[in-house]
Amino acid sequence: MKILMVTAEAAPFAKSGGLADMVSALSIALRKAGHDVRIVLPRYYSIDRGRLTQLEGPLGLSAGQREVWTAVYATVMPGTEDLPVYFIDHEESFGRDGIYGSPAEPDFHDNPVRFSVLCNAAFQICHKLNWTPDIIHGHDWPTALAPVLLKFDRRAHGFEKTASVFTIHNLGYQGVYPKQYYSFLGVNWEYFYDAGFEDWDHLNMLKAGLASSDMLTTVSPAYAREITTPEGGFHMEGILRRRQDRLAGILNGVDTDIWNPAQDKHLAKKYSYKTPAEGKIVNKKTLQQLFSLEENETVPIIGIVTRLADQKGIAELFGPAYGCMYRICTELKVQVVVLGSGEPWCEQELRALEHKLPNFRAFIGYDEVLSHRIEAGSDFFLMPSRYEPCGLNQMYSLLYGSLPIVRRTGGLADTVTQYNQETGEGTGFLFDYLSPQSVFDTVFWAVWTWYNKPKHIAVMRERGMKQQFGWDVAARKYAEVYEKALSVGAGH
Ligand code: ADP
Ligand code: GLC
Repeated sequence: MKILMVTAEAAPFAKSGGLADMVSALSIALRKAGHDVRIVLPRYYSIDRGRLTQLEGPLGLSAGQREVWTAVYATVMPGTEDLPVYFIDHEESFGRDGIYGSPAEPDFHDNPVRFSVLCNAAFQICHKLNWTPDIIHGHDWPTALAPVLLKFDRRAHGFEKTASVFTIHNLGYQGVYPKQYYSFLGVNWEYFYDAGFEDWDHLNMLKAGLASSDMLTTVSPAYAREITTPEGGFHMEGILRRRQDRLAGILNGVDTDIWNPAQDKHLAKKYSYKTPAEGKIVNKKTLQQLFSLEENETVPIIGIVTRLADQKGIAELFGPAYGCMYRICTELKVQVVVLGSGEPWCEQELRALEHKLPNFRAFIGYDEVLSHRIEAGSDFFLMPSRYEPCGLNQMYSLLYGSLPIVRRTGGLADTVTQYNQETGEGTGFLFDYLSPQSVFDTVFWAVWTWYNKPKHIAVMRERGMKQQFGWDVAARKYAEVYEKALSVGAGH
């Protein structure tokens, strides 16, 4: 099949979270399975044009009332020989720092216009390359316009046999803007209601994608169920229930070329499930040195790597006076290492905690290498998400022998199994209700187990490290979804 991935992020070019990892890893896995996969994304300022090849001639497109001219750059996905990645170079839209926003403007006010350029360009680029995809696959609200354009316009203009698939990575971000922006999308006003854009007199980009796409997927089976309920549906549960027969929950995999402790070049010592203890101890010591923590093998390190966003349970962890981190660090014999960036209040709180607590360290920022070192050097990995469509970090943790302490939600529930203190079964520590107390209690339980049942910890660690999260299984499931999209979508 010929598959065009349309996305705002793809690792290693532009990344704000797991979506970027997923898009690239899925594309690579599909390519390995023999499909002709191509990726299109914006050329943000941070992507160096010097490393790309410019395609000849400009790309002209109409985005609603405007005529837009862009350049197109191309390269090949690292690790592959023949997976083309195209970059839409449009100064007005993408010539700035940040994917979705900047510190001064966390959500660019003209995001619907910017991403409309991307989605319209995705179709134009196919014309330019004389290559018509069977599937156009969009990811999250910035690309929700792609299935809408296909359904309400492009199918009549050269894309008769193309079907659309749209993946929900996070229902919490919907792209809701004043409806004045609608005239920049390239979809007639008569479709404002029909295509599903209308949302309390606003423009809701995601909602239109959910309503118009031939097939929908999300990134874990549990999240596929949760989003059809009022608790997890972010008021999209109605549409999603109506379209449940078009919705598949497919668990993300892990790119083990990047996340594999046995060949991870960022680690002080590589290790595998055969020698976890020695490997972990060297990496733990390195982490303690890196963060100027007391060098002590026996004290467990709890690692956290996260966007500092409400979704991740940061209020329960770090909320001033409310969060449980102070108690964790003062009542339990542990060390805590945090890597994250995001909400300014939270960054400030992390600095304050570091000041108060000798066993708490935070690195504020985004640091790929450090994230590997934390996975390798920590004994537990804490992820008390309010909701979690899939979550990649808990899978990385399992593979790196850092036992996850997580809330039983979405992909966390699908990937971590509860510790049984009688038998030692399980791969981590789970809790249901999100509150500072429940997070504290579960951390307490994990730390108690560390000191009192070391054999169980060792067995769980080995079990976690042996888990298989290969992308080949997921890629096969996506191929099935594409087949279904073709049978229900194009020409039907
Ligand atoms: P989400 O996409 O919701 O942020 P995931 O767990 O799916 O959550 O993916 C997060 C990805 O982003 C992981 O690859 C993780 O290592 C990475 N990440 C998040 N914050 C940071 C950070 N501050 N520094 C380095 N990597 C980070
Ligand atoms: C989103 C979700 C996360 C998921 C990632 C990749 O960012 O928040 O849970 O793992 O997308 O699909």
